Amino acid sequence: MRFSTHIICTRHLDFGNGDAVSVKYYDIDKPVMPKNVVIISSSLRKGGNSETLAESFARGAAEAGNSVETVSLRGKDIAFCRGCLVCQDTRECVIKDDTVGIARKVHDADVVVLATPVYYFCMSGQLKTVLDRCNPLYDSDYRFRDVYVLMTAAEDGPGTFDGTLKGIEGWIECFPESRLAGVVSAGGVWAVGDIEGSKALDEAYRMGLKV
Ligand SMILES: Cc1cc2nc3c(=O)[nH]c(=O)nc-3n(C[C@H](O)[C@H](O)[C@H](O)COP(=O)(O)O)c2cc1C
Repeated sequence: MRFSTHIICTRHLDFGNGDAVSVKYYDIDKPVMPKNVVIISSSLRKGGNSETLAESFARGAAEAGNSVETVSLRGKDIAFCRGCLVCQDTRECVIKDDTVGIARKVHDADVVVLATPVYYFCMSGQLKTVLDRCNPLYDSDYRFRDVYVLMTAAEDGPGTFDGTLKGIEGWIECFPESRLAGVVSAGGVWAVGDIEGSKALDEAYRMGLKV
């Protein structure tokens, strides 16, 4: 069990002798059950921007007492959905690769976090493939309720993230017990490391704290 990270108020105590302290009052009357948070980090680029964003979210969620697992798609065996729709009857995919285990983790999570670079104004192909391969979860007793989206892109225009978010929102809509719970996007990040110092890292950390 963990306790709420909701801060009721902050008091600044000045002892008059040069010592002062800031005290945060938490809503500890309301114990909060730790959540099972699964983060899908879809960029294959090691140490990349979306992976760094995902790490910040994971740090916040773990510090708040949740169980956090980050699944990187790097090095995973992930085949395309064949569209056979056998899973509609069996709730199992006919392709026995790493995606079976990933879909199981998504099914069992309370919170799902999808981290992706923007590729041609869409989510990464590898994330799209994993979401397609989660089709056995459609109309199942999936547990996840909150879905968070973390995105990075080289551009930073008004519509840079629209296509990516729209695609992921479409997937969430197909799981009506779930909802889009939060979005963090970092534009203007191109090379590995560009995201360092970005306020998006702090946003992701704080979002993780509140899952
Ligand atoms: C194939 C490909 C397509 C891309 N398409 C876009 C795009 O449409 N818009 C954009 O702003 N950046 C685009 N980028 C840049 C990435 O989104 C950006 O570098 C991002 O920070 C990479 O995240 P990562 O380091 O987590 O892989 C593209 C990069 C690649 C490799």
